[in-house]
Amino acid sequence: MRPFVVVAGARPNFMKIAPLLRALERHPTRPPHVLVHTGQHYDFEMSGVFFEQLGIRDPDVHLEVGSASHGVQTGRIMEAFDSYLARLSEPPRATIVVGDVNSTMACALVASKRLVPVAHVEAGLRCGDRTMPEEINRVVTDAVAELLLVSEPSGLANLEREGIPASRVRYTGNVMIDTLVEQLAKARAQDSPSIPDAPYAVVTLHRAGNVDDPRRLAGLVELLLEVSRRVRVVFPVHPRTRNQLASFGLAGTLESADTIELHRPLSYHTFVALMAGARLAITDSGGIQEETTYLGIPCLTLRPSTERPITVTHGTNVLVGDNLGLARQMVDELLAREPQHATPIDGWDGKAATRVVDALLEAFP
Ligand code: UD1
Repeated sequence: MRPFVVVAGARPNFMKIAPLLRALERHPTRPPHVLVHTGQHYDFEMSGVFFEQLGIRDPDVHLEVGSASHGVQTGRIMEAFDSYLARLSEPPRATIVVGDVNSTMACALVASKRLVPVAHVEAGLRCGDRTMPEEINRVVTDAVAELLLVSEPSGLANLEREGIPASRVRYTGNVMIDTLVEQLAKARAQDSPSIPDAPYAVVTLHRAGNVDDPRRLAGLVELLLEVSRRVRVVFPVHPRTRNQLASFGLAGTLESADTIELHRPLSYHTFVALMAGARLAITDSGGIQEETTYLGIPCLTLRPSTERPITVTHGTNVLVGDNLGLARQMVDELLAREPQHATPIDGWDGKAATRVVDALLEAFP
């Protein structure tokens, strides 16, 4: 039988493909599948450690594209994935892409042009802001996908509004939460020196809108200094953010604050343990908005919009956009909040990948 091709490229993809690969391996019909790593993220700490901790097997194919501007990176992935597909003796059963990174869109485009059907896991999410590269990746990927697997109810409404036929859409739930459910106990058992005994806030920042503009980043550094006067701050710094802090001359200010702990990017288990024990998360990540919702940890999102609105309506997430005054006020409010449990969300139950595999086998028999 022709194999499924599963694509992964950047850090947030790895927690999404791990349960998918497992569900494929455990399915009674053992559908054959190939794992392609584009190499968008290539460091051990952005990629290898996730393969190790999540038990993801070595990729069958590594495209080794590395970092570049968006256009160049997307083009390189397209070229490399296209020559991979061209070398196959028969076309794959379908290409499975996850999330919204450049690798997702690039491989979806290439597969669809070679008439290989595309399945998009985490389809339909929209923040409405086309200045975000991820929003372009979501819109383009969904436009060419033949099977759209949706993680939260807003995705169904967005796809309907965009005129995508309902016959292509399935509500399967959130595969990233599968990984969290499976790994949480192991993560909590971690005894990592990165996790303080005293109350703390965990911070992550990497979006272009926050870290590429010197004034915006300086304002955020100021906000973190203020937060650190109320509660200890633990901040694993994304490579892009580390570069920008250094080039805007802001790194020293953070490094000299003694209640701010800066780290290199952390492993999955250490980061989950850190998040699960935090009083507050401050972030611009998509995944962390969802993980904190599941864990019941208050989350302040430094973005004006979210493609994951259920984290605000049913969860623990508060958006503060560009308003740093509001951010300061919300930090105080959220630190005073008792830990809470979010309303359970349909399909965020640890079994989404099994539903995805059932949908794949039904759609591509
Ligand atoms: C990408 C995704 C973003 C995701 C994020 C998670 C896109 C458009 N963006 O953003 O949606 O939330 O990953 O991390 O696909 N770098 C390293 N080592 C690595 C990878 C990157 O040092 O292993 C550095 C490089 O200097 C690079 C920079 O990080 O220029 C940015 O990497 P890139 O993949 O372009 O985008 P991210 O900002 O990581």
